Amino acid sequence: MSVKKINHVAIVVPELADAQKFWVEALDLTLGGVERLPAEGVTVAFLPVGDSEIELISPTEPDSGVARYLAKRGPGMHHICLEVEDIEATLARLKTAGIPLINEAPAVNENGVRYAFIHPKGANGVLVELYELPS
Ligand code: CO
Repeated sequence: MSVKKINHVAIVVPELADAQKFWVEALDLTLGGVERLPAEGVTVAFLPVGDSEIELISPTEPDSGVARYLAKRGPGMHHICLEVEDIEATLARLKTAGIPLINEAPAVNENGVRYAFIHPKGANGVLVELYELPS
């Protein structure tokens, strides 16, 4: 199993503008872009850090999964995303090891990235996302 790098760390915040006071203004990270994802009811701000990025995720719909997460747990780290060589092989290996998966098969996002989530129960309470970038 080949994990190449941390692709991103995602943080849930109630308001992007307010969160940028720390991440952009105080810490001096650069705002790389903001994307609205209506299907998921969120807006995501991308803040590159070296070869990885921090993603600030903010709900736009009160009934989205992220809005419910925020209501229940408050702002904070949502997931860590590991970039892998071969997502199918990684998922198969995890399944064999008895690790609970949220997605047994990868989905594909609009950028052609194949992704899947591992259940926090199997990863010391951390929601882990796997990414395989298009070649
Ligand atoms: Co992610």
